[in-house]
Amino acid sequence: MTAQATKRVVWLTDLHFNFLTPEQVDAFLTPVADCRADAVLFSGDIAEAKTVAGYLRDMEDRLGVPIYFVLGNHDFYHGSIRQVRQHIAELTRHDPRLVWLNAAGVVELARHVGLVGHDGWADARLGDYERSLVMMNDYRLIEEFAGLSKEDRWPRLKAHADEAAEHIRRVLPEALARYPRVFLVTHVPPFREACWHDGKISNDEWLPHFASRAMGEALRAVMGGFPDRELIVLCGHTHGRGEARPADNILVLTGGAEYGAPEIQRVFELS
Ligand SMILES: [Fe+2]
Ligand SMILES: [Fe+2]
Repeated sequence: MTAQATKRVVWLTDLHFNFLTPEQVDAFLTPVADCRADAVLFSGDIAEAKTVAGYLRDMEDRLGVPIYFVLGNHDFYHGSIRQVRQHIAELTRHDPRLVWLNAAGVVELARHVGLVGHDGWADARLGDYERSLVMMNDYRLIEEFAGLSKEDRWPRLKAHADEAAEHIRRVLPEALARYPRVFLVTHVPPFREACWHDGKISNDEWLPHFASRAMGEALRAVMGGFPDRELIVLCGHTHGRGEARPADNILVLTGGAEYGAPEIQRVFELS
């Protein structure tokens, strides 16, 4: 493989640009542009419902390379999941540099590296949802959940996570058939051991809101059929940096984040 065949890819997550001034957004994007990457991977939470599209466009204009992204729970705040997704689908449909992975199927990142992804959702199946007293802002600020009782919310959380897992069960085998290494970008950690927060794994109080068991089960099931392939999962949401290896051929990287202080997570050189 020649040097030209190597692709440089920058991973970003949980930027929460709505907490920054335009000058701070610009100051953050300068070192990202200086990476001279061929592509950006973004694992969700760029802003809120009314601002997500504008920030994606700004980032695309500024960086001038393809941005492969998913949406995080914050990206639906003060709006609805259905409407934001519809808007993002329209925004990205004819734009080859702004690629929403929910709608993209399998993407080639480098000659031997494929990419798939989905927003994902925490499905309240890990930890103890019934006893948990956590009241995420999601449950007040996203139309699909606002006003629902804790009991009525439960099946909706599961349904959103199941939709994401089904997408991955469909596209991941296709990616693995074509590429020995596949990256999967999703907002919500798919395993308990990937739910890093403050240097520890989240407890049963937080896990229902921080993890997607449906996605984890899908990944284990699919990867079990491809023992010689490698899956690298990039996620965020918990804002705690860490790594987990739930299976020999699955590595999960969870991004670290602080509101008001976005950072570059990693730069990958892929061939
Ligand atoms: Fe976040
Ligand atoms: Fe999040």
